[in-house]
Amino acid sequence: MGLAAAYHALPDAERILVLEQARFGHGGSSSGGGTRQFRIQYAEEYMARLVLDSIPLWDDLERHRVTEHPLRSQVGSLWFGDPDVDSSEGQIKKAIEVMDRVGIEYEPLKMPEIERRFRFVGLPAAYEGFFQPRGGTIHVPGTVDTLVTLLRSSGRATLLAGVEVNAVVPGEEGVRLETAGGTIRADKVVLAAGPYTNRLLRGLGFQLDLVIWQMVSCYFRKRHSRVDYPSWFAFEPPAPHYDPGLYYGFEEVDWSHPGYIRVAPAFALHHLSDPRERQPRPEPMDLWLTARWVREHMPGLEPEPRFASTCLAALPADPAKKMFLDFLPASRRVVVFTAGWAFKFVPLIGKILADLAVRGETRYDVSPFRIETGGEEAPLEEALAAPRGRRLPF
Ligand code: BEZ
Repeated sequence: MGLAAAYHALPDAERILVLEQARFGHGGSSSGGGTRQFRIQYAEEYMARLVLDSIPLWDDLERHRVTEHPLRSQVGSLWFGDPDVDSSEGQIKKAIEVMDRVGIEYEPLKMPEIERRFRFVGLPAAYEGFFQPRGGTIHVPGTVDTLVTLLRSSGRATLLAGVEVNAVVPGEEGVRLETAGGTIRADKVVLAAGPYTNRLLRGLGFQLDLVIWQMVSCYFRKRHSRVDYPSWFAFEPPAPHYDPGLYYGFEEVDWSHPGYIRVAPAFALHHLSDPRERQPRPEPMDLWLTARWVREHMPGLEPEPRFASTCLAALPADPAKKMFLDFLPASRRVVVFTAGWAFKFVPLIGKILADLAVRGETRYDVSPFRIETGGEEAPLEEALAAPRGRRLPF
């Protein structure tokens, strides 16, 4: 998001400095692995419209891509699940209603056809779903490399990795960034620091109501070269003793473990309030449940999880809030973005962040992502105590 904001600020900003505490492409991203899902369907119309708005900006980035493979594949997005479970019914049926209203094409599917066409097995006959043909998979390293290359070749952006910012201090004349190497002064600042956001805001006496999920990701070896899938998401009912029942996966991609397919849980046993609580290894329970799902429903894959990794997703504690995208309450010189899963919006949110930082306004409706102060936000304790993982991804 920070790179995309810098890219969209290029035409207007005099000089741009991008600071990254880790390496570009290896920061605190919110899912592991080299892929993210691109889907247009949403249970909320404003979100579906934002994805549609992001498509021309993805196309622009695609024209500049530095990788052999497209930044966004269009293998389609398959959603299926139990229509009798409130939450999944909510997601699948509401997404269908939104697609009908907005005029987004999709193919409704019953379970026998889902199993036959997409080679899942052992799912209850009552499950239903749909296939949206314009969904697909995002090439994460390709997107990051493209943005880094565009910024470096612009001659007007400086990119520094390995720089940890300790504090962001807005004032009348500008913003001070305190780093171990000294103080940096900026006219405007875009803060896209995910789980590190509250650490940066500490000194301001202000915190966003965020909960951090430590997600796992892994890949499974294909049994035959012909095995493949679209990008997909399964909404199963939660099972007792912690199985939130939400799994997702991708097609095989050449740029990330060819011969293997990524399948991951869309839930996390570990919910944190500070990134320093991060566990050193992928949670075995989350991996085990994913491997069991693969063993029971994806016979084309060997059920041993491979290339497991973890990452942190910083979600607004209020489940109705998809992301924070707003000025800091204390200063319009600082624009903040954080969300759980928003890679599909990278170029659009980059543009919005640049609009807000450079011009102070944007033509996109960001009111659902406002930072409320003194409102009735769900307290963090409540979010941390909520049943693990029954929050649906947005
Ligand atoms: C999404 O489609 O937004 C999504 C899918 C899987 C995990 C998290 C988010």
